[in-house]
Amino acid sequence: MSGATIVHHPLVQHKLTIMRDKATSTQGFRRLLREISLLLCYEVTRDLPVTQQTIETPICEMESPTLAGKKLVFASVLRAGNGLLEGMLDLVPSARVAHIGLYRDPKTLKPVEYYFKAPEDLNERLVIVVDPMLATANSAIAAVDKLKERGANNIRFLCLLAAPEGVAKFNEAHPDVPIFTASVDQKLNDHGYIVPGLGDAGDRMYGTK
Ligand code: PRP
Ligand code: URA
Repeated sequence: MSGATIVHHPLVQHKLTIMRDKATSTQGFRRLLREISLLLCYEVTRDLPVTQQTIETPICEMESPTLAGKKLVFASVLRAGNGLLEGMLDLVPSARVAHIGLYRDPKTLKPVEYYFKAPEDLNERLVIVVDPMLATANSAIAAVDKLKERGANNIRFLCLLAAPEGVAKFNEAHPDVPIFTASVDQKLNDHGYIVPGLGDAGDRMYGTK
């Protein structure tokens, strides 16, 4: 697996355009991220296995599909990952949740870990890591390293925006983990920001600077 699956759906692209606009308010940005996460969740889960279950409708008995296997795990890379997590949980309310606390040191661009909490049986579940931004990929690689250390072996990575440099680096570090995103932008700038991007996702979500 290499590269990234880009979600070209017109609603995703429309909402992403408004999110990129620096005139969009904090409130608007947060609402759009939640809305877009529903559409991205639909794409990242579209090939989940199903099993047939016997049920009785008011009319007759039938065989009908339900999701197979153990509940999913959504792994949110804090803080900005929580903006994608909320909408994903609206669609898959039974999912388990892992939290991975990481921030980028602004000078070195290396991730600094401050928190990790995940379900015990990661080895038995599909884990979908969520973080709006894949820039240098240092944070995403560290998050997946940690999940693999704890036993995860079936992982997908979902983001809103990616840089080509980050996609290449992530693919090299974790070739078994497919990336889903709404856009692969032009490049990274000298400060490790995605160009044209949308700025700092966490700051735009929470109104910090
Ligand atoms: C942002 C973003 C990713 C990371 C991406 O988080 O949410 O986690 O940067 O950059 P990278 O690919 O170069 O590692 P940030 O460190 O700003 O923390 P925050 O979510 O707490 O704002
Ligand atoms: N983190 C962000 O929030 N935005 C970027 O462009 C890069 C990293």
